[in-house]
Amino acid sequence: MNASDSTSTAAVGLSRRSFISNGGVTAVAVGTLALAGCSGSASTESSDPTGGLTPGTVILPLSELAVGTTAAVTVERVGILLNRTAENTVLAFSAVCTHQGCLVEASFRCPCHGSRFDAATGERLAGPARLPLPAIEVELVDGDIVIA
Ligand code: FES
Repeated sequence: MNASDSTSTAAVGLSRRSFISNGGVTAVAVGTLALAGCSGSASTESSDPTGGLTPGTVILPLSELAVGTTAAVTVERVGILLNRTAENTVLAFSAVCTHQGCLVEASFRCPCHGSRFDAATGERLAGPARLPLPAIEVELVDGDIVIA
């Protein structure tokens, strides 16, 4: 599997692109972004933040995430936030907001009710969400960011 296998049938009229944010500036990069509506449920936290993605699944080519930037991508309908903190260090978190399930943006802000999360830890910084964004284990393999 790879990022090009991603589907976004749940996306709300958006292209197969993701947004990368650096210092509040948003740019477009390759990938898939889905802005799903809020589920309305009180909690959508899954026990598996990968949504069942198998180890080795490509999330994004490393070359498409510059050092010091973040991205929100959707792989096989699983929303993932990426934060490249160093040349060979990428952090990943579930993009599913722990408040009511909206997809958190690359800025680590939820567009639905304004919860904000720490891009280094996933911890909640502000807003109605109470729980952190679950971390997703990733590794770098052959120039790609993949599920570990
Ligand atoms: S769904 Fe309400 S703050 Fe994210």
